[in-house]
Amino acid sequence: MTAHRLLSRRLAFVGAAIVVAALGACAVLTAQWTGLIGAPTTAAAAAAHTAAKQDNKRWVHGDNTLGALGAKFGLRIGTAVNTDALAKDSAYRQMLGTQFSTVTPENAMKWGIVEPKQGVYDWAPADKLVAFAQAHHQLVRGHNLVWFQELPDWLNKQYRSISPDALRTILHKHITDEVSRFKGKIWQWDVVNEAFADDGTLRDDMFLDKLGPGYIADAFRWAHDADPTAQLFYNDYNIEFSGAKSDAVYDFVKKLQKQGVPIDGVGFQGHFGTQFQLPDLQTNLQRFAKLGLNVAVTEVDVRTSMPVLAFEQSAQNAAYSQSLQACIAVRACISYTMWGFDDRYSWIPDSFPGQGSADIYDRNLNPKPQYDVLKQDLQLAADGAPVRTERGVR
Ligand code: XIL
Repeated sequence: MTAHRLLSRRLAFVGAAIVVAALGACAVLTAQWTGLIGAPTTAAAAAAHTAAKQDNKRWVHGDNTLGALGAKFGLRIGTAVNTDALAKDSAYRQMLGTQFSTVTPENAMKWGIVEPKQGVYDWAPADKLVAFAQAHHQLVRGHNLVWFQELPDWLNKQYRSISPDALRTILHKHITDEVSRFKGKIWQWDVVNEAFADDGTLRDDMFLDKLGPGYIADAFRWAHDADPTAQLFYNDYNIEFSGAKSDAVYDFVKKLQKQGVPIDGVGFQGHFGTQFQLPDLQTNLQRFAKLGLNVAVTEVDVRTSMPVLAFEQSAQNAAYSQSLQACIAVRACISYTMWGFDDRYSWIPDSFPGQGSADIYDRNLNPKPQYDVLKQDLQLAADGAPVRTERGVR
């Protein structure tokens, strides 16, 4: 599934990353707070502070966890959750419940998991995660409703023979049933995931093939009908940097807005690697924010070849730091989520053979240098970063 990502990312060079790390977080942050997009007026800033304080009262675990540090200026810090680990690993649960203020099911809400047989739902793993999140005052990112991967086998088998009308009915039912099931419990839904190819055309998948490009607007409308208060996101990778794909997504969401389609935000996945150039993420977040949308960094990890060499460690620190700082600098960026927090349960070694060590905790759940870097950035941001709330700019 992932070879295209490797090909599509351009130059492989870690030098820039190391320079960013060497500059030191303080200087970089200070520079970033000047000329902020959407910086509020004094009165608006005061109101935002009050609202953020109210948000934060619901989530406080110590002063010094990632979630608590982000809460000082209203930024939710999140992780994808492996629901097997959640069920069986108490150390994992402890870390999950204390460090993070938002959670995303890594797989438990995907279509293939929730509807393994047509019309037969299995909500159990997703329900458990939502219950855990509520018990720990965490907000949930629902992931995802429409994606060309991890579809149920019964649906893939019908690809060739199914009529457009039949597929439309099935997709409508899927979105309506899933969103209704979690109504009022989901903060942000990734309604459509990875619908664009790297060249900026719409991905040639079952939905485009049978339903035409209008399926995306329909998906947002159906999700909105089922839960009008959830924030509805388009989510993708390789839109973190400028280029054909991010331009195409930008034009597309602008068109959706013009048509009155209920879209609230865009998610930037952020599956980085030490062999790739650092993206101009802040610039991209800002231009989407200027459309009046919320943005979120949704799936950060920074993989590298194994074993990790010193310069790769330094490049990993830089990629984590720079992506967090990009989100911090943009007031419409309401959450920064990592795609898992520990190397024990990481998806990377299975999907990218020979690569690993992509997360901020090691296999024994001890924090790595990446964790300290994020913490330092959050600590510094408490002094002057734009304050945001759960609703962001929506
Ligand atoms: C991945 C999961 O982490 C794996 O466990 C699963 O086998 C495949 O999917 N982009 C996404 C996520 O939007 O849903 C993917 O998650 C990673 C890439």
